[in-house]
Amino acid sequence: MTKKQSFQQDFENHVIEGLSSFPKFLSSKYIYDEKGDALFQQIMNLPEYYLTNAEYNIIDRFKKELATLFTHELGFDLIELGAGDGKKTKVFLEELVEQQQKFTYIPIDISQNAIDKLAASLLEKWPTIDIQGEQGTYFQVLERLSQYNKRPKLIMVLGSNIGNLTHVEAIDFLGKLRNSMSPQDLLFMGFDQKKDPLRIQNAYADSQGVTQEFNRNLLHRINAEMDANFLVEDFEHWEAYDPETGTAKSYLLATKPCNVRVGKLGIDVSFKKWETIHTEISQKYDDDVVAWLAGKADLQIKRIFEDEQQLYKNYLFNRD
Ligand code: AVI
Repeated sequence: MTKKQSFQQDFENHVIEGLSSFPKFLSSKYIYDEKGDALFQQIMNLPEYYLTNAEYNIIDRFKKELATLFTHELGFDLIELGAGDGKKTKVFLEELVEQQQKFTYIPIDISQNAIDKLAASLLEKWPTIDIQGEQGTYFQVLERLSQYNKRPKLIMVLGSNIGNLTHVEAIDFLGKLRNSMSPQDLLFMGFDQKKDPLRIQNAYADSQGVTQEFNRNLLHRINAEMDANFLVEDFEHWEAYDPETGTAKSYLLATKPCNVRVGKLGIDVSFKKWETIHTEISQKYDDDVVAWLAGKADLQIKRIFEDEQQLYKNYLFNRD
C-alpha cells in the first residue's frame, strides 16, 4: 500500500468511527488537502488570528541569541517539523546565513508540494544554503529523526501545532521527540498561551468566516472522496473556549435535521437539529502546564521566549 492509500484508508476508518459515535467527532488532521492548506494560509493572515504574528515577533526579537545556540565546528542540523511556507523560519535562516553558521536545513512536511515550494524560494534567496526537505507525517519522521546524530540538532515545531493534541497525545509526542534527541540537542517549540478568553474565542470564530470554511472542508472532502451528500451549508462552525481547561473546541453544528449517505462506506448517518460534530481542539497553555508536560516527557525547559504583547511563548528544551 502506498502512503497515500494508507492515509485514505485511515481517513475512511476514522469517518466510520467518528460519525457512528455519540457524540460525533472528526479529526482536524483531515482538513488539510490542497484547499484546506490554502484556507489555513488565509487564517494565518486574519487580523484575529494573532498566533502567527506573535511567534514571528519572538523569532525576530531573539534571532541573534537563537542563532548562536549552536556554534559547533561540524555545524548543526536544523530540523523543522510541519514547515509549511516557512515564513517565520526564514527570519531565523537569514540570521544564520548572516552569522555564517554552518548548518543543514531539513524542513519536514506532510505535503511534498509545500517542501518543494519552500526549497525553491529559499534557494532563490540564498543559492548556497544546504536544504534537504523530507516528506512525511510527524510519526514517520520521528522514527527517522534519531538518525540525524552525527552533529548537534535543533528541532523546531512552530505554530502551536502541539495544541491540536490532547495532553496525553502531547506527552507521547514530546516523549518521542525526547527519545530522538542526544544530550547536546535542543527542541524549540511554540505554545499559545492562556489569555483574555474573548481574544481566543475571536481567533477561532473570525468575522470573515474563513475558519468556518476551513472546518467545513472536512465535509467537502467526505463528499468528494467518499461519495457522500452532506449539504455543507447546513452545518455551521461553532467555537467554545473554556478558560478553566484552556481548551478551545471547534464543532460543526447541524442547523437542520438531516440524513447523510456516505456511498463509498455504505453507511447512513442521521443528524438531529443542533447535533454536533466535534472537529478540533486548540489547547492554550501556561508555564505550569508546559513544565508538567515536559516533566512527563523527561524534558527540561532551558529557556522561555515571549512576544512583546505577551500572547505566545516558545520554549527551548533539552533532554537531561
Ligand atoms: C494548526 N493549528 C495549530 C491551528 C490552531 O490554531 O489550532 C489550526 C486552526 N484551526 C482553526 N484555526 C486555526
